[in-house]
Amino acid sequence: LLGSLISKISPNLIRCVSSSNTSTNAKKVAVLGASGGIGQPLSLLLKLSPLISELSLYDIQHTKGVGADLSHIETRAKVKAYVGKEELANALKGMDLVVIPAGIPRKPGMTRDDLFNTNATIVADLVTACAKNCPRAIIAIIANPVNSTVVIASEILKAHNVYDEKRIVGVTTLDVVRAATFVAENKGLDPTKVNIPIIGGHSGNTIIPLLSQASPPVTFSQQDLDSLTNRIQNGGTEVVNAKAGAGSATLSMAHAGARFSFSVLEALNGKEGVVECGYIASKGDFSYFATPLLFGRNGVEKSMGFGKLTDYEKTLVEKAKKELNGNIEAGLTFAKQYL
Ligand code: NAD
Ligand code: LMR
Repeated sequence: LLGSLISKISPNLIRCVSSSNTSTNAKKVAVLGASGGIGQPLSLLLKLSPLISELSLYDIQHTKGVGADLSHIETRAKVKAYVGKEELANALKGMDLVVIPAGIPRKPGMTRDDLFNTNATIVADLVTACAKNCPRAIIAIIANPVNSTVVIASEILKAHNVYDEKRIVGVTTLDVVRAATFVAENKGLDPTKVNIPIIGGHSGNTIIPLLSQASPPVTFSQQDLDSLTNRIQNGGTEVVNAKAGAGSATLSMAHAGARFSFSVLEALNGKEGVVECGYIASKGDFSYFATPLLFGRNGVEKSMGFGKLTDYEKTLVEKAKKELNGNIEAGLTFAKQYL
């Protein structure tokens, strides 16, 4: 019954709810910022998965109530709720995966960079606690601006001598989710069967959809190419404006965060060929860059790269350069001052 209910909500969750062989390897997952707009529905989706044996909910407020509520759901994940800084260490001990949606969201007229001053410190404090309490956990960062918060987190892990580039990833899955939805709408396809790789980063011009590599293969007029690219790049702003001051994407992000988490957990359990896009340290033209990533038993096995770009896509990469490098630099500068 539960499986059929969830399959109606999100087909990407079917495999997680119905898979029984992986449940013997169930993992421990923490959500930091678990009482928030993303944190609550994300925790709900995670609670429904047999891939998870323990769900650790941490926030500076309201976690006891969220935890009590979720703990009544008849699934195997044991829910533990922690509130306030003094409970953070216990929330993190033994975790395999830590997902971080803690931080303030945008209001209309703001860029993700406008969140930097508040969210940089929140992420830095939380990742410092991860370095001390669960240094081997995979850390998935949702808090914006992702282009900078992942850099800050990486510098902190380095300073604590626990950095492993396989284990720290910025979550860009929502861009992939949106691209599949918008392209499916445009072409009359089943959105669950569409995949569009997204490279670059997670803000405006730095979100680079590779529509030429769509699966199934599709072609677009120049006008459609421009309007789809623009809509994918500004999907977050579309939601921020529609919510009119009440925050940014939460429900679609909860789905995207759950999809990303389930992929990581399945790969940790030994499933082969698991690929999700994500923003990681890179050795190419940018020191951090999102690409499709192959996940394995230790986190990111390797970047799958981005193949051959069209001239149009090369121009998008060119346009992203200044902003993405600036975001990376801002993260490095903050981390130096913080440490
Ligand atoms: P929200 O304000 O609804 O929730 C944030 C939660 O974080 C709150 O419960 C708050 O108490 C908690 N929090 C604040 N400081 C904390 C701390 N030090 N430790 C633990 N928890 C703390 O916001 P939201 O809508 O859930 O968004 C959260 C973040 O996710 C924002 O920065 C937003 O921009 C970002 N976001 C990213 C993506 C993406 O694709 N990566 C998508 C949507 C939103
Ligand atoms: C999104 O893409 O929806 C998030 O990054 C939130 C935002 O501020 O747009």
